[in-house]
Amino acid sequence: MTRPRLYSGMQPSADSLHLGNYIGALLQWRDLQEAYEAFFSVVDLHALTQPNDPAERREKTRRTAAQYIAAGIEPSKSTLYVQSHVRAHAELAWVLSTITGFGEANRMTQFKDKSARYGADQTNVGLFTYPVLMAADILLYQTDIVPVGDDQKQHVELTRDLAERFNGRYGQTFRVPMPVIQKDTARIYDLQNPTSKMSKSAATDAGVLWMLDAPDVSAKKIMRAVTDSEGVVRYDKENKPGVSNLLVIYTALTGRQIPSIEDEYAGRGYGDFKKGLAEVVVNEFGPVRARALELLEDPAELDRVLAVNADRAAEVADATLADVYAKVGLLRRG
Ligand code: AMP
Ligand code: TRP
Repeated sequence: MTRPRLYSGMQPSADSLHLGNYIGALLQWRDLQEAYEAFFSVVDLHALTQPNDPAERREKTRRTAAQYIAAGIEPSKSTLYVQSHVRAHAELAWVLSTITGFGEANRMTQFKDKSARYGADQTNVGLFTYPVLMAADILLYQTDIVPVGDDQKQHVELTRDLAERFNGRYGQTFRVPMPVIQKDTARIYDLQNPTSKMSKSAATDAGVLWMLDAPDVSAKKIMRAVTDSEGVVRYDKENKPGVSNLLVIYTALTGRQIPSIEDEYAGRGYGDFKKGLAEVVVNEFGPVRARALELLEDPAELDRVLAVNADRAAEVADATLADVYAKVGLLRRG
């Protein structure tokens, strides 16, 4: 029986992933890997668009992969690999760049935001072509669905346009993928600044629950989370963003409905509620953290697993790339 294909990935841009990545991406990936033939990549080529020390870059790549596995992505069930291990990504990205309009790429809001923030001189061409590389990632695997956050939706739309354009010009080559956008209830906010998304690049560490934080550190961050002066545990995203965010975390990790959690803490203060949530988070992250650290203690074994998975990925990717090279008329090496 062949299952539909799924593709997603994350940049290795921090030593630890955070609770937003865990709830917004990893938990969903883990569940989807049963019904889909899934490919999950650590997109290290994308991360080259940001400066970093080479040794740190390598370490973040391993750490990100270890956290995928620790969170339940099974390398025997899904294909979990490092993007740069499969050469076809960079090669297809080049071909796709030649059918991408300059204006079309220039309309990508993520690029517009970044280039506006840093200025043209601090913005590299890799950031501009980033969505084309992402399209190559997805199209190489004849992907059916792409689960992503809504900030990536425009990139998946571009991917669809490029697939249709190529198919129209050269005949059926790529499957046209569908984006699956993360639910709003899967969006986690900063504990100190609960109207901003929890992010790897947050201004302070205090609002970010890192998956690899020691349990007492996670508990402390939750106890100090910003709330409000009402003193009632009740979901109201507009007026009570802090408490609402904590409720969303609670429900996402336990599967319990928000009203049932509100009832449990009715008439009790935020202290009790936070203590309860700290326990939930520590119980969830404890085993994940332990497993990630264990995997990182044996980098040779981790690298071996990633190599086996990269071979599996390359088999699929190379077949698509060979088809593309033939269709556009690149002379086959004799
Ligand atoms: P990033 O850390 O921005 O590279 O995002 C990697 C993945 O994690 C994407 O699929 C995002 O949608 C998801 N993600 C990142 N931050 C959050 C957040 N605060 N809440 C929910 N999901 C998030
Ligand atoms: N651009 C995505 C992000 O920043 C990461 C990514 C790269 C990706 N290639 C992908 C996501 C392919 C889904 C599919 O989150």
